[in-house]
Amino acid sequence: MNTPACRICGGPLTPFLDLGRQPLSDAFVDPGQKTEEFFYDLVVAVCGSCTMVQLVNEVPRDRMFHADYPYHSSGSSRMREHFEQTARDILASRLQHPEAFLVEIGCNDGVMLATIAGAGVRHLGVDPSAGVLEVAREKQVRVMNDFFEESTAKEIAASDGPADVIYAANTICHIPYLDSVLRGVDALLSDDGVFIFEDPYFGAILEQVSFDQIYDEHFYLFSARSVQMMVRRFGFDLVDVELLGVHGGEVRYTIARAGVREPAASVASLVKSENERGLADLEVLHAFAQRVEQNRDELVALLTDLRDAGHRVVGYGATAKSATVANYCGLGPHLVEFITDTTPAKQNRLTPGSGIPIRDHAAFRDAAVDHAVLFAWNHADEIMAKESEFRDRGGRWIRYVPHVHIT
Ligand code: SAH
Ligand code: TYD
Ligand code: ZN
Repeated sequence: MNTPACRICGGPLTPFLDLGRQPLSDAFVDPGQKTEEFFYDLVVAVCGSCTMVQLVNEVPRDRMFHADYPYHSSGSSRMREHFEQTARDILASRLQHPEAFLVEIGCNDGVMLATIAGAGVRHLGVDPSAGVLEVAREKQVRVMNDFFEESTAKEIAASDGPADVIYAANTICHIPYLDSVLRGVDALLSDDGVFIFEDPYFGAILEQVSFDQIYDEHFYLFSARSVQMMVRRFGFDLVDVELLGVHGGEVRYTIARAGVREPAASVASLVKSENERGLADLEVLHAFAQRVEQNRDELVALLTDLRDAGHRVVGYGATAKSATVANYCGLGPHLVEFITDTTPAKQNRLTPGSGIPIRDHAAFRDAAVDHAVLFAWNHADEIMAKESEFRDRGGRWIRYVPHVHIT
C-alpha cells in the first residue's frame, strides 16, 4: 500500500491508531430504514513533516453536513453561556467601529451569532446544514447556506467587503480541505483582522485518553505546533492561544496576517510544552493507542459483568463521540438498553452502526435503570447537577474517560 500523504503539506503520514469500521457519527437510523448505512475505516495518523494529526480516510462532506444534520449547538446550557460570553468579548475587543463585520464559519443554530445580531453588528453565518440554519434565522441571524471555502469567501468579500473577524467553533477541525478555507480567509480578512477558531485539543485527548473525540467529522486533531506550521504556509501567524475548559479541553487559536501582530508569549510556551510532552512522537502515540485498547477491553468487560449480574444499563447522551465508542467496542442493545438524549431529531431513532434505541428523558426517569454510561462526559457538571435524583435512588455512572470506572 502507498504511504498516505498529509492533507496539509503532502508529507508522509504514519498511522498510529485503528478504530475499525465506523458509520457516520451523526447518521441516526430510522427503525424502518431500508437504505444501508455508510461505513469507512477510522484510522488516525501523524504527519512526519508538519506534525498534523489527521484521519487517513475522508468522508464526502455532503454525507455529513446536510439539511438533516441533527447536532444543535444550543443543546447544552454551558455551551450557550460559553458562546454568549465569547460574542460579548469579541464585540468589546474587536467590533467597536460602526462598519465592523464578523463572519462565522459553521454557525449552526446561531448560538453565538444571536448575541452579535442583538448588538446590531454586521455579520454573516455560513453553514451547509439547512435545518440548523432555520433555527438561526428565527434568532434574526443573517446566514448563507453553503460550505465555507475559497469560492464562498470571495463571494462574501465581493458583496460585504472585508471581515474584521472570522470566527469558528468546532468546525475548522471538521474540514479536510483547509487549503481552500485558508485561501478563503486570505481573500476575506481585513488587513489587520483576525481569524479565531476553537477546536478539541489533541494534547487533552492524549492526556485523558478521550479517543471518542476521534470520528468522521473530527478530521484534524490540532495542536499549537501543527496549527502554527499550517497557517504559515498560507501567509498567516499564530498570534495567540487560549486553553478552554469546554468539550473536554479545547484550544482557541488566533491567526493574523504574517508580521501584522506580535505573537503572545502563550504561543511559544504552549509549543514548547507540546514538544516536551512529545505530542508528535511515535512512542507517545503508540502508548496512547495501547491505552485506548485497554479502555475498550475494560469497558466491554464491565458492561458484560453488569448484564450477567442482571443490572439495567443505559447510556446518557447520543453524542457523535458515542458512535466511536459503540462501534469500536462492539456495544449494542445487548449491553446498553437505550441511550437517553434531549435532541428531538435523535429520539426514537437508533444509534449509527450499533442499533441502540434513543429515548427521551422521560424514559430515563421512568425506567428502573441502575447504571448509565456517560457518553456526554464533556457535559458532566451540567448533567450531574440535574440528575441528582438518579444518584439518590442508587443509580451509578459509568465513565470511560480518562479510564473505565463507576462513580
Ligand atoms: N459552531 C457550533 C457548531 C459546531 S458543529 C458549535 O461549536 O457548537 C459543526 C458545524 O460546521 C455544523 O453545523 C456543520 O454544518 C458546519 N460545517 C461543516 N463544514 C463546513 C464548512 N465548510 N463551512 C461552514 N460550516 C461547515
Ligand atoms: P456533545 O457532547 O455536545 O457533542 P458531540 O455530538 O459532538 O459528541 O453532544 C451532547 C449530546 O448530549 C447532545 O445530543 C445533547 C445531549 N444532552 C442530553 O441529552 N442531556 C444533557 O443534559 C446534555 C447537556 C446533553
Ligand atoms: Zn503535513
